[in-house]
Amino acid sequence: MRLTLNSPLDMHLHLRDGKMLSDIAKYSAKNFAGALIMPNLTPPITTIKTLKEYKERILKACGEEIFTPYMSLFFQESYTPEFLKEAKPFVSAVKLYPSGVTTNSECGVSDIDIKKLSHIFEAMSELDIPLCVHGETDGFVMDREREFGAIYENIANAFPKLTIIMEHITTKESVSLLRKYDNLYATITLHHLLITLDDVAGGLLNPHLFCKPIAKTYEDKEALVQIAINADKKVMFGSDSAPHPVSKKECCGCAAGIFSAPIALSALAELFEQHDKLTNLQAFVSDNARNIYNITTPNKEVILQKKEQTISKEFDGIIPMFAGKKLSWSIE
Ligand code: DOR
Ligand code: ZN
Repeated sequence: MRLTLNSPLDMHLHLRDGKMLSDIAKYSAKNFAGALIMPNLTPPITTIKTLKEYKERILKACGEEIFTPYMSLFFQESYTPEFLKEAKPFVSAVKLYPSGVTTNSECGVSDIDIKKLSHIFEAMSELDIPLCVHGETDGFVMDREREFGAIYENIANAFPKLTIIMEHITTKESVSLLRKYDNLYATITLHHLLITLDDVAGGLLNPHLFCKPIAKTYEDKEALVQIAINADKKVMFGSDSAPHPVSKKECCGCAAGIFSAPIALSALAELFEQHDKLTNLQAFVSDNARNIYNITTPNKEVILQKKEQTISKEFDGIIPMFAGKKLSWSIE
């Protein structure tokens, strides 16, 4: 059995920089036609100049592959409507991180006060620049996304023309919230479709499945699976593939992030096939994103085959999700 995907997209990807970028870009560039690139470098991407330079480094790391990096800026309270207007031709989104909630988010927003930020949201809305949000509070780890729901509602209500992307949703409440507001959309990762907190910490601790937001309950996972396999137009694939060196994962103070780029499409095919929904994979990994972001993509066919593979123990020294496990699908 084979499945051809037209221009698959990964709408939430960490490619890092320097040697890590050169090492890992190929895993996304080979399998996808494009990706929304996260700006949480150190220092974060907050200017047009650094954004353009980063894009050049990404393209170089992708070599000959057909791959479009859709760039994002790291939200700053100091942004002005004039700056956003100037940035518009080069950016596909602005990513808002509450300060300190995840890897390299220290420069994020410490108080998401809608009144204080309204000129920015207003300008983004008028310029049609989507707002991507890491929606977690600093509350109890299992409640952070639920608690952030009120902030999503406030922004969605106050700026009804602003496209808001709830990044990497993990709860059934987030799935319900999507239905309430026309301007709310979401990305869903591979890992949140496949694992729960049990896989992270229910047995021996698995640092390679530790990420933010942390994986939740079976019920939450099931709600995500249902909306994803039915390719609901409100959701799209965003891997949140986030590589860290082994020394930062297998230690005390393990960094949050799961490296899934090399296996993402094969694992998604397996999941969709198990639910007899393979025909919906195209919409989930490409069509929905094209509509939500209103982007054109390069033409690229990626062919999946029902052929067993054993996931490598490491890719350029980075340990992937499900290292050593078997998958029933492979990229041709
Ligand atoms: O697990 C995560 N890792 N979540 C994020 O939000 C950031 C990412 C990273 O950059 O490592
Ligand atoms: Zn991320």
